[in-house]
Amino acid sequence: MGKSYPTVSEDYKVAVEKCTRKIRGLITSKGCSGIMLRVAWHSAGTYDVKTKTGGPFGTMRYEAEQSHSANSGLEIAVSLLEPLKEQFPIISYGDLYQLAGVVAVQVTGGPDVPFHPGREDKGEPPKEGRLPDAEQGSDHLRDVFVKTMGLSDKDIVVLSGGHTLGSCHKDRSGYEGPWTRNPCIFDNSYFKELLSGEKEGLIQLPTDKSLLKDPVFRPLVEKYAADEDAFFADYAVSHMKLSELGFAEA
Ligand code: HEM
Repeated sequence: MGKSYPTVSEDYKVAVEKCTRKIRGLITSKGCSGIMLRVAWHSAGTYDVKTKTGGPFGTMRYEAEQSHSANSGLEIAVSLLEPLKEQFPIISYGDLYQLAGVVAVQVTGGPDVPFHPGREDKGEPPKEGRLPDAEQGSDHLRDVFVKTMGLSDKDIVVLSGGHTLGSCHKDRSGYEGPWTRNPCIFDNSYFKELLSGEKEGLIQLPTDKSLLKDPVFRPLVEKYAADEDAFFADYAVSHMKLSELGFAEA
């Protein structure tokens, strides 16, 4: 992919290290790993590879973006992170929100997703409507992830495994409940639950279920359900790609 990461100062690196510890503490004390991963993903997932607009550049700090209907509830994540921005003003919002996603995965037992600092904050939110609609199927997922964001079929399946954390909230998305029985643990249970069918108290969105019907997606669901190491290895790569859409392009 030929990334050329910016050089950040020693002070910046130290601030990222300290802020990582603070985010670990925040997630542990508040049990907010789900919404921290979601804020990172909804920040980055607005990237449009054709116009090079959107992406993980801190625009979720604007109320205008928080008020996009797909982002319902994310003002909570933004306000939980705001005191850290005040404590470490050198860190960009873009880096802060992506760091929160990486730490959420790590502290809940998931893989170490490499983190590269240096995102610059953009001054304007992306247009509304770029994030996926849970009521749709695999064609729509490819329109969003492959055509617009520039990711791959494999990225769609492996990143959907992010639903191992957290849950749906009726007052935010209209859906209710977690995907797995341990929504504060990052493991491959999302794929196991998906394959073993719907159950009382657990959710499967239409987009989740579409992974079972698609001939390219389904074998990957089966692979990740059977092999957590393979899921973790692929997840770390795909999450890093997501967190760096439009960043450090050569
Ligand atoms: C494939 C398309 C996707 C769709 C349609 C989708 C849709 C949704 C919906 C409707 C919710 C419930 C929000 C709420 O009511 O609070 C949700 C939550 C969540 N999503 Fe996704 N999502 C997708 C992909 C992803 C990806 C790629 C990730 C991360 C890698 C992710 C991570 C999460 C997490 C962690 C939550 C739980 C948030 C919480 O606990 O507050 N999702 N998603």
